[in-house]
Amino acid sequence: MGICRRANHRSCVAGFNPRRAPALALALWCAFGSAALAAVEPPAVSFNHQIRPLLSDRCFSCHGPDERARKGKLRLDTSEDALAPRGARGDRWVLIPGDPEQSELYLRITSEDEMDLMPPAGSNLKLDEEERALIRRWIEEGAEYQPHWAFIPVADVEVPSPAAPSRSANPIDAFVEALLEPEVM
Ligand code: HEC
Repeated sequence: MGICRRANHRSCVAGFNPRRAPALALALWCAFGSAALAAVEPPAVSFNHQIRPLLSDRCFSCHGPDERARKGKLRLDTSEDALAPRGARGDRWVLIPGDPEQSELYLRITSEDEMDLMPPAGSNLKLDEEERALIRRWIEEGAEYQPHWAFIPVADVEVPSPAAPSRSANPIDAFVEALLEPEVM
């Protein structure tokens, strides 16, 4: 704008130079385009794919299914135990769905005090920044345990009933016949 000598020069008064419009449009597109991309929500944390492997690797040696190895009377491999009230009065919880800052589990994995930190300092186990953030997000999203994928029932599938009476009692043949049917007719 230093090139303006006339006081009332149009582009100077408006502070806008039409010849720079494409550059301005590009700048706006960059600013708002990337903001829009950043606003896209990441997919929900998956317990089976992201959290269980993490807990299994860093916590289950002391808080898993093996009763003799269990520490602090805490079991983190089943939701019944991990979400149960604790303490003599049953007024403490290790996981409070939706509230990581009140969840003992999150406070322990982020503690600055080496005496409280989990996994314990001497265990040679560690959680990095990203893993802690993932656990935080999982608690924020409800700290939901999913059954192990091997135990999730396969969705019920309806066996097709072909127009022609089936020649077989095996329902698998009904699927094959349903596929072949359009060609036969
Ligand atoms: C090497 C064994 C070991 C490992 C691995 C370990 N812990 Fe612990 N944990 C302990 C012991 C021992 C205690 C009981 C003493 C204490 O409270 O510090 C405990 C206690 C806790 C408590 C407090 C329970 C309560 O009643 O308040 C929480 C929460 C916890 N652990 C979470 C975790 C998590 C989450 C991990 C994995 C990221 C983990 N721990 C890994 C040994 C372990």
